Amino acid sequence: MLLVRNRLRTTFESGSGVTNIRDIAAEAGVSVATASRAMAGKGRISAATVERVRAVAERLQFRPNEIARSLSLGRSQSVGLLVPDITNPFFPELMAGAERAAKAQGRTVLLTASLGAESAREDLRVLCARGVDGFIVVGNPFESSGELREAVGSRPLVVVDRAQSVTGISTVVTDHVAGAAIAVRHLLGLGHSRIAHISGPPGLDVTDLRIAGYSREMRAAGLEPRIADGEFTVDSGAEAIIRLLDGPHPPTAVTTANDLAAVGAMNAVIARGGHVPRDLSIVGYDDIVLARLVHPGLTTIAQTIGDLGSCAVEELDRQLSGDTEVRRRSLGTRLVERGTTAAA
Ligand code: RIB
Repeated sequence: MLLVRNRLRTTFESGSGVTNIRDIAAEAGVSVATASRAMAGKGRISAATVERVRAVAERLQFRPNEIARSLSLGRSQSVGLLVPDITNPFFPELMAGAERAAKAQGRTVLLTASLGAESAREDLRVLCARGVDGFIVVGNPFESSGELREAVGSRPLVVVDRAQSVTGISTVVTDHVAGAAIAVRHLLGLGHSRIAHISGPPGLDVTDLRIAGYSREMRAAGLEPRIADGEFTVDSGAEAIIRLLDGPHPPTAVTTANDLAAVGAMNAVIARGGHVPRDLSIVGYDDIVLARLVHPGLTTIAQTIGDLGSCAVEELDRQLSGDTEVRRRSLGTRLVERGTTAAA
C-alpha cells in the first residue's frame, strides 16, 4: 500500500519553529481555554476576542492539530482510493482528479494499488483500520457488489470506471458504448470499411461495452465486426495488430480498447516498415498524456479521466453529509483527432 499524502501532524508548526495554543493565548492576552474556543468558533466569546485570537494565529502561522480535530469530529478527513494498476497512466490521471477535489474539501487521499480480491480485501481492511472516512474503488475486485459492501462496512463508498455491473452502490462511469461508436463513425467518415477492433481484457465490463459500441456501429453500416483479443497493454496491441495484418482481409483501420494498445499497434506497424496512417489508421481510447507524446500523435476517444476521480470525490462528500441515495453518474467521451487516422 502506498500512502500518497499524509498531512496529519502531531505538532503545530510555525514559520520559525513550533507554535502551540499556549503561545497563541499568551500573545493574544487570553486564557488557553478562551484561545481554544475562539479557534474552534465555539462557546460564548466576543467577536473582538475571536478576531484577535485568529489574527495572532494567522501571524504565527498556526495550523490546527489535525489529529485532535479528527478525534473531536470523529472523522479523519481522508479517503481511500483503490486502483487496479498504477503503471497504466490512466489511473494516476484519475487519481490526480480525485486528489485535487479532495484537497479542495480539506481531505487527503490514501492510494493503494490492489489487483484481485485477496489483495483488495487486505488493503480495504488496512485502510479501515487507518480510519478513512470513505472509499473510492476502481471496479469491483470481488464477485459481487455485496462482497465489496461487506469489505468496507458502513463507510461511504463509490465505485468508479469499471462499474457497469455494480448494484446498490453509487457509481461514476463513462458511456463506453457511445465512445466506441464515435471511433467507428470517424473511420467510416474517412471512407474505411475494413475496420477491426482490438479489445480489452476478457471479463471486464468496459471491454464488453466497447465491443458492443463498435459492433453496433459496424452493423448499422452493414459491415461485419471483426474483433482481435487484446489486453490494456502495449504488447497486446502489437501482437493483435500483427495477427490481423497477417490474416485474411487485413484491416485498413483499427479501433483499440485503450491508448497503450493503440501505441503498441502503431509501433508494430512502423517496425514492419509500414506507415501510420497511410497503411493503417488507428484510433485509441482514453486520451492519456502519452497520446500527445507519440509521433504521429494518436487520434483517440477521450475520457474525462480527471473528472472520474473528482466526481467520485464529490459523490463521497454527498454521502458523508448524510445523503445516502444510490446514484449513477455517466460521463461522456469525445473524439480527439491527431495524426494516426486518414482517408482510406
Ligand atoms: O487504460 C485503462 C483502461 O481501463 C481505461 O480505458 C479505463 O476505462 C479502465 O477501465
